Amino acid sequence: MNKIIVKGGNALNGTIDISGMKNAALPIVFATIVTKSVCVIENIPLVDDVLKSIEIIREMGGVAEFIDETTVKIDTTGVECCTSPDDIVRKIRGSMYLLGAELAREGRTEMIYPGGCNFGKRPIDLHFKAFTALGADIREDEDEYIRGEVKGRLHGANIYFDIASVGATINAIIAAVTADGVTVIENAAREPHVVDVANFFNTCGANVTGAGTGTVKIHGVPELHGCTYAIIPDMIEAGTYMAAVAATGGCLTVGNIIPKHLEIISQKLIDMGVEIEEGDDYVTVRSNGKLRGINIKTLPYPGFPTDMQPQFAPLLSLAEGRGEIYESIFDNRFKYLEELKKLGTTVDIDGRTAVFSGGNKLVGAPARAVDLRGGAALVIAGLVAEGETEILDADCIYRGYFNLVPTLRELGADITEDRFATHIYGD
Ligand code: UD1
Repeated sequence: MNKIIVKGGNALNGTIDISGMKNAALPIVFATIVTKSVCVIENIPLVDDVLKSIEIIREMGGVAEFIDETTVKIDTTGVECCTSPDDIVRKIRGSMYLLGAELAREGRTEMIYPGGCNFGKRPIDLHFKAFTALGADIREDEDEYIRGEVKGRLHGANIYFDIASVGATINAIIAAVTADGVTVIENAAREPHVVDVANFFNTCGANVTGAGTGTVKIHGVPELHGCTYAIIPDMIEAGTYMAAVAATGGCLTVGNIIPKHLEIISQKLIDMGVEIEEGDDYVTVRSNGKLRGINIKTLPYPGFPTDMQPQFAPLLSLAEGRGEIYESIFDNRFKYLEELKKLGTTVDIDGRTAVFSGGNKLVGAPARAVDLRGGAALVIAGLVAEGETEILDADCIYRGYFNLVPTLRELGADITEDRFATHIYGD
């Protein structure tokens, strides 16, 4: 198990460039299966989850080769559906996109239930609802495999989601792009990665309109062709570095981003007393480390992203005055707070609400990364805490951040990593 060691107290200063978005890259890698062709995907983030998705394609008979550090050429001509490797599929949430891709490509799917961070219940009933509307017969069997078939070809349908689920919206698009007829998805998720998947498909000859609004319309086309496509920047990676400099103090320019995607994150930091200057493709964040307590409610885009709430927890802990996080997306996304408490955060958790008293002095301690963003929260806390913080089980942090430790060191942090350390908890 991997370990990150950080000694707090150094300000962060400098300039960084943000990678491609993990949660756009995952569906796009799986969407290449539908093209049965060669796609060149640029701005691929080299994070563990995305590397796993590429490995799944390889194990299914596809050919994937890196042309340069962030460009991968994926040939899915030889992919055989229903052959995905259980051990990797189980490790990432993004493997749920195999369902839509296999149904679209071959009219059948079979895979083990997908993995991902544990935030309580993560059902996939809405995915099933979409596939059923499109004409698939799909079920989860007792052996934890999901199996589905289509008689003939998938057909267009009207799909209404009770919850604006990112995964279900993207899976419905993946399944519908080559279906017979028109599909309309109502109450679709509006996240930038939904738009990115639609843009990818349109570059491959699909006809998807309305992505980024609550209504997505897909005119099915008989087949797609390959393309060259660049993934959008990762707003969560950007937001994480912005939160880190807000905590430590300093001046950081975060480049290669789309500032519009960061509006709510920037606004919350401004509310806390941080200075933010916005350019065409960058933001500069200045902080003297003095923060004010605020309230945050996680919401679907364009609301405050649930994937950023853990990184704001150390800020609310340090801030003067009371602060609150209300988590409206997942029913159990506060497990990481038990670990932050070990560094001195005082917080009361009541269901989906976490109330921070603020004004905490953080002191380094051993703590465990319980999930990807919760792990990032510990790194931020450790950057400020007095003394040494040992972050155990750091593997899950590498699922979503590439080169986090060297980048922070470059910006002035006293941080090291031990990628083969044994953790103290024993699995
Ligand atoms: C994706 C992201 C994750 C992010 C989340 C919300 C990936 C790989 N993961 O997860 O990082 O935190 O969006 O922005 O892109 N729901 C159902 N039934 C379903 C599907 C979802 O009830 O069939 C519920 C979930 O339990 C949750 C809510 O809908 O309460 C939103 O989940 P969803 O948007 O689907 O998240 P994911 O796509 O799993």
